[in-house]
Amino acid sequence: MKKLSYLFEANKKWSESIKDKDPEFFSRLSKQQAPDYLWIGCSDSRVPANTLVDLPPGEVFVHRNIANVVVHTDLNMLSVLHYAVAVLKVKHVIVCGHYGCGGVMAAMEDKSHGLIDNWLRHIKDVARFHKDELDKLSEAERIDRMCELNVMEQVRNVANTSVVKNAWSEGQELSVHGWIYNINNGVLNDLDMCVSDSSELSPEN
Ligand code: CO
Repeated sequence: MKKLSYLFEANKKWSESIKDKDPEFFSRLSKQQAPDYLWIGCSDSRVPANTLVDLPPGEVFVHRNIANVVVHTDLNMLSVLHYAVAVLKVKHVIVCGHYGCGGVMAAMEDKSHGLIDNWLRHIKDVARFHKDELDKLSEAERIDRMCELNVMEQVRNVANTSVVKNAWSEGQELSVHGWIYNINNGVLNDLDMCVSDSSELSPEN
């Protein structure tokens, strides 16, 4: 039976290199976590949350799924969001999408991909909301723009959860950000959509 021993070797080296620099790192972290950020990102292996913002363990609470979708009835996402906001008191929720997202591309195709079609319906809805703008673009531009629009839509969805609305109504400091990552050059971009209060969303949202 193969046991992926090379990954355990790599882990041993990694943990030792951290302890060499900071002998108390793990014992300190084992007592509590106090991250400032909740990251909601894509499951894509090329978009690892901590790595691309160069933050160590303990700094980012993470939820990832295909195409970084925030579905109002997703108990998994809501549980992560509730724990992060109500218990850990994170100050920022970051929805981070990425260009070249396979989930977004699959949603834009007019063919079946099996079970995942049900998940991708949420992205097809985003495309329908923005049909006029998307119809004017070339194929490649349309996919890039959809990756951005999907993030912006999911920021709205986070801001409209009972978890975030309750936090704001209690005066908790909390911002929801929309970011996009470029897998071609490793660079993150802010989509300039930062919501820090319910009043910042227009009524129709
Ligand atoms: Co993706």
